[in-house]
Amino acid sequence: MALLPILCYPDPRLHTVAKPVQNVDARVRALAQDMLETMYDANGIGLAATQVDAHERLIVIDVSEERNQPLVLINPEVIWASPQKKLNEEGCLSVPGIYDGVERAESVKVRALDAEGASREIAAEGVLAVCIQHEMDHLLGKVFVEYLSPLKRNRIKTKMIKARRDAERV
Ligand code: NI
Repeated sequence: MALLPILCYPDPRLHTVAKPVQNVDARVRALAQDMLETMYDANGIGLAATQVDAHERLIVIDVSEERNQPLVLINPEVIWASPQKKLNEEGCLSVPGIYDGVERAESVKVRALDAEGASREIAAEGVLAVCIQHEMDHLLGKVFVEYLSPLKRNRIKTKMIKARRDAERV
């Protein structure tokens, strides 16, 4: 197990499109475990492989309060999305300190492989539905701030670059 460095927006690697996982093997399971450890350590509810610079279709999620219900979704596909949309406040471990509203489907059904390579279908609503859609966007190279206005996005970009520069100066 290991903590992995998380890429920070506007790192261009966050815009990489992830490739499907070919085999759910020991390497993939180890990556999923490291991602879970990294996510829990950072107090996040979800993490996509893209964010740790591994460009494979793999996400980990835990939206439980007790932080004891890890979900590993490999090669996830949305097979149904509700026409009803909902505006939710989102944040992202790759954009620390920034929270803003994004409109997404209120509920979704997703098919994915689990850490054992078995196909599962998950019906998600509420925070889980938001989180799955947010993490799946990462696999397509999309960060949630791209839903915001160009003005807001540029402000966030400037803030992130400045924060990075200040951190390096210390
Ligand atoms: Ni994120």
